[in-house]
Amino acid sequence: MIVRPGSDTSYLSGFGSYFETEAVAGALPLGQNSPQCVAFGLYAEQLSGSAFTAPRHENRRSWLYRLRPSASHAPFKPYDGAKLLRSGPFDEVIASPNRLRWDPLPDATADADFVDGLTTYAGNGAPDHQAGIGIHLYAANRSMTGRVLLNADGELLIVPQSGALKLRTEFGVLTVAPGEIAVVPRGVRFAVDLIDGTARGYVCENYGAAFRLPELGPIGANGLANPRDFLSPIAAFEDTDTPTEVIQKFQGRLWTTTLPWSPLDVVAWHGNLTPYKYDLAHFNTINTVSFDHPDPSIFTVLTSPSDTPGTANCDFVIFPPRWMVAEHTFRPPWFHRNVMSEFMGLVLGAYDAKAGGFAPGGASLHNSMNGHGPDRESYEKAIVANLGPHKIEATLAFMFESRWVIRPTKFADETPLKQLDYDHCWADFKKAEVPR
Ligand SMILES: [Fe+2]
Repeated sequence: MIVRPGSDTSYLSGFGSYFETEAVAGALPLGQNSPQCVAFGLYAEQLSGSAFTAPRHENRRSWLYRLRPSASHAPFKPYDGAKLLRSGPFDEVIASPNRLRWDPLPDATADADFVDGLTTYAGNGAPDHQAGIGIHLYAANRSMTGRVLLNADGELLIVPQSGALKLRTEFGVLTVAPGEIAVVPRGVRFAVDLIDGTARGYVCENYGAAFRLPELGPIGANGLANPRDFLSPIAAFEDTDTPTEVIQKFQGRLWTTTLPWSPLDVVAWHGNLTPYKYDLAHFNTINTVSFDHPDPSIFTVLTSPSDTPGTANCDFVIFPPRWMVAEHTFRPPWFHRNVMSEFMGLVLGAYDAKAGGFAPGGASLHNSMNGHGPDRESYEKAIVANLGPHKIEATLAFMFESRWVIRPTKFADETPLKQLDYDHCWADFKKAEVPR
């Protein structure tokens, strides 16, 4: 267990590690998972994040010891909120080949917590296929007081852009601020409190294989995101008889039921399926020290693999502050066309391939095989730039990249936030003059 300086929260350190933690001494059974009678009359429950028979290195599960069994609840009924939340299959509008970019989602004006403040921009695949992703932005102005969310369709990768969050989960409490990310596994019940009163950010809802660290290959045993920097909560529980609404996302729809108590009542747990957070400032950024670019896969923080090796259901990739030292090289990303499709967001600062138009809280979408890269102004600066060592600072862009075409929602296609002039940033490039 570690305590970060300046933090009042203790965490467990490691990625996919096997943890055990108890909020009350003696709550964890010793030597077995489900004794005939658990201490204090607690109820034992296994939460499996993988098939029982998944290979050992893929197998994720935790045992929870709680005040009441999670099976105790009234039937769920359809939930009528979160009007802009969508789920796969994403077939509201046709998937066009056009490059798209959006201005930032404004702060919430109507009363909205994390659930009702979700707006879906795009996605692919579908929950019932256990493949694909949903991409949401959130804008919230109130905490989830008296209710929790459970997503049966996928795990949630949360990327705050403005406003720190306190995630109260069945496993304990995580605080996550802009510059950090949090991942909540499929099925885990949690509430989002707004530490700063309002919050905005991005969410990748992953219907596919759980996010994990990428292989390192020739990089070796260290580098990129190091396992010790991933932090899971210590056990903490709510013992209240306050009615609590449970919102569940199941097969693309939201459902609701109300418990007479808080379901965040896990007194102790052990296992390797947990919510976790990660400070992106700890990313050990690797790049060229000679010339040219490694492919942006060198910036992968987490990956959700598909059935084809090396071809991700989703990669979470960041473009953090870093030194640029490449000699005789065009330093911003060059023009490119990819098999993979790219949804980008910006937490902070500016992105080095765009001189303007891509603002913090905004987003862009470049789908498979459609050319993109630096805008004309960035290009013209880069080809005459002094190539001394230069540090890109105060910036944090990221990408949700997928093997499947990312399909916009009707909202994303029709919102006035969509920049109708995005293509213009690649207009008026001078023709190269080749001697004949
Ligand atoms: Fe790209």
